[in-house]
Amino acid sequence: MVTTELDDRTIPLHDAEGFAGMRRAGRLAAEVLDMLVGHVAPGVTTLDLDRIAHDFIIARGAIPATVFYRGYSHALCTSVNHVICHGVPNAKPLREGDILNIDVTVIVDGWHGDTSRMYFVGDVPLKARRLVDLTFEAMWKGIEAARPGARLGDIGHAIQTYAERHRLSVVREFCGHGVGRRFHMAPNVVHAGRPGTGPELKPGMFFTIEPMLNLGRPEARILDDGWTAVTRDRSLSAQFEHSIGITETGCEVFTLSPAGLHRPPYHRI
Ligand code: MF3
Ligand code: CO
Ligand code: CO
Repeated sequence: MVTTELDDRTIPLHDAEGFAGMRRAGRLAAEVLDMLVGHVAPGVTTLDLDRIAHDFIIARGAIPATVFYRGYSHALCTSVNHVICHGVPNAKPLREGDILNIDVTVIVDGWHGDTSRMYFVGDVPLKARRLVDLTFEAMWKGIEAARPGARLGDIGHAIQTYAERHRLSVVREFCGHGVGRRFHMAPNVVHAGRPGTGPELKPGMFFTIEPMLNLGRPEARILDDGWTAVTRDRSLSAQFEHSIGITETGCEVFTLSPAGLHRPPYHRI
């Protein structure tokens, strides 16, 4: 989500029916990412992955939320190496050593499940594996800060502190977002910030946490296709995303992998 687009004053609070809806949508989105694990390999194209995911989603009676979304026309965003996010699937074969983020959003009975993970294409250099591991941990630092009584800024602060301690930079141009019956809504969930700032978190709030971390500088640039966001310095970038709901005691993660394929390398499992 492009930062600054949303109004944080109106964050909906959902009931048990909302949690049940998000559980179904989140589970299917996670199943798409589980299913794709077996398809990511050198020589495969991101368009191949998009078609496989599209067919899988339709076969389950769900809707790929990004098709026809603001002029986008694919089921997946596929962001390779220095692409930060919103990479558009294309016909270029993946190569050994690439790192890839696959981001999918499905609509099930009107509820949106939005999640992304990193994938390794064959053997990946240590510095890229380290970036991916630290980005996964950074997302979880944010999720652990998401509980009633905390502030939205605590999430960004937890992510930023962890990232910068490990000499990674946090992308500012894109953020997490409220999610539910709509794809993108309040609040803006920025991944860097000051503790104790922003709206108070309350049970029933639904939003994504989706930090993008770079090995180099944080600045992003959009390519001429109007979508693909890349690091200005062409350094590697990684991202993970979960959709969560604030509960009475903490939060529920709607998009956990049913197969336990939480982070690469997946072939160990
Ligand atoms: N799934 C992305 C997110 O996490 C949004 C993709 S919008 C698209 O918010 F149009 F680029 F697909
Ligand atoms: Co999202
Ligand atoms: Co997403």
